[in-house]
Amino acid sequence: MLRTPLVIVNFKAYAEATGRRAVELARVLSSASRGTGVCVAVAPQAPDLREVAGVGLPVLAQHVDPLTPGAHTGWILPEALREAGAVGSLVNHSEHPLRPEEIGRCVERLREVGLVSVVCAGDPDLCRRVASFRPDFVAVEPPELIGTGRAVSKVRPEVVSEAVRLVKGVDPSVGVLCGAGISTGEDVRKALELGAEGVLLASSVVKARDWRAAAEDVIRGARRP
Ligand code: G3P
Repeated sequence: MLRTPLVIVNFKAYAEATGRRAVELARVLSSASRGTGVCVAVAPQAPDLREVAGVGLPVLAQHVDPLTPGAHTGWILPEALREAGAVGSLVNHSEHPLRPEEIGRCVERLREVGLVSVVCAGDPDLCRRVASFRPDFVAVEPPELIGTGRAVSKVRPEVVSEAVRLVKGVDPSVGVLCGAGISTGEDVRKALELGAEGVLLASSVVKARDWRAAAEDVIRGARRP
């Protein structure tokens, strides 16, 4: 479903990656990643999931609710994500935070329906705590660097290495990603050198004037020599 090295591109609610443009961006990323050995996954908005999944890249939801099927209105059911072709979901993104018990329940429900969980956390200590839920991945993302173009791997390298150390101390099988400000291939390479198995990024690709060039650059940084 998801392999490493992994690059997840979160489309957020950016107009540049909504509806038809979400599908176009996924096509660009699919073609840029072909033959590179790098797994590129995308996280479009919920209404775009099914069509983007048709492009062939692994697709994650940006959010899921810890529900079982039944009388709930306006929520996102894990089973519905699977039916739409998603392979998993982000959980607890800093732009959609959850309470600790909800995070645990989301991870459990995703596992029950055979979907991957990528739990976001703002600092290494929170990474350690959410690792105890045994998600597939934990992504450390200091919120103050998100969208700034200042890469966590460059300006706060200790956050990445500490998150790796703490998460692996809880469970070595939980993958560790990092994100916030990751913009270039060099930022990605640095993240992998610090022990991350991939990155979670958004604005540097979604808002780039040339999607293809931006995608090729970050993918290059994730390639094994
Ligand atoms: O989910 C990815 C994210 O929050 C980082 O955003 O724009 O700093 O790459 P950005």
